[in-house]
Amino acid sequence: MNEEQLKAAARVLKKAQHAVALTGAGISVDSGIPAFRGAQGLWDRFDPQEYAHISSFLTNPGKVWGMLKELYQIMERAQPSPAHYALARLEELGILKALVTQNVDGLHQRAGSKRVIEFHGNGETLTCLSCGEQRIIQETSLDQLPPTCPRCGGVLKPDVVFFGEPIPPQALEEAFQEADECDVMLVVGTSAQVYPAADLPRRVAWKGGSIIEVNLDETHLTQDMTHLFLQGPASKILPKLAELVEE
Ligand code: APR
Repeated sequence: MNEEQLKAAARVLKKAQHAVALTGAGISVDSGIPAFRGAQGLWDRFDPQEYAHISSFLTNPGKVWGMLKELYQIMERAQPSPAHYALARLEELGILKALVTQNVDGLHQRAGSKRVIEFHGNGETLTCLSCGEQRIIQETSLDQLPPTCPRCGGVLKPDVVFFGEPIPPQALEEAFQEADECDVMLVVGTSAQVYPAADLPRRVAWKGGSIIEVNLDETHLTQDMTHLFLQGPASKILPKLAELVEE
């Protein structure tokens, strides 16, 4: 990790009027939840077209629930990482005004972040495709797949955004409002390959805002628009960054 880059990033964040974080699966890797792309990515084992598209879910919910069950078992054991806590600290310090996450694991809230915009929904709740009844995962048995609605027997679907589904309208509106006000975006652990989430840093850069990127590897943002690239694991970089901001 490059100390100079870290110090520069801390200075930029300290001076920010409206810093916003955008996070992806990479921030939860150190919590034990696999990312989708890159080393040991989930999509290496499960073809997203077959398992993460809404049409696949509707055609064969039992098959897709086979993958979902594995993910839920991992999420159930996951704890917030030092990276999640560092972002909550930056909000507490009044530096971070909002956090847009593509993750559905709820770890930002568990780490204490308050202003969290869940761009791809949240895995905590499920909705019956037939009667609309909402259930929480803790009260849903996954012994039989797909899990069905206790009220009408319909198939239960996690309240997460599958490919081919719209972003929840309120999350979409709030995230782009935040991006429009944002002068510094801290982009953490995302390959920035999925839209419209990947439009958010573009929106900030296009308005002349600064992009600070935390990632193990370069992404296509890095060359195009990242001003400060902090290379390494988020759970090492973000706590140091929060410390320098707090100094
Ligand atoms: N620290 C920082 N970055 C990391 C770490 C880590 N410990 N581990 C992995 N990364 C980086 C990877 O280099 C990669 O750039 O995190 C990124 C993860 O990218 P993806 O797996 O594509 O996850 P994400 O960008 O969140 O995917 C967006 O795609 O599959 C859909 O809906 C799903 O929300 C997801 C969306």
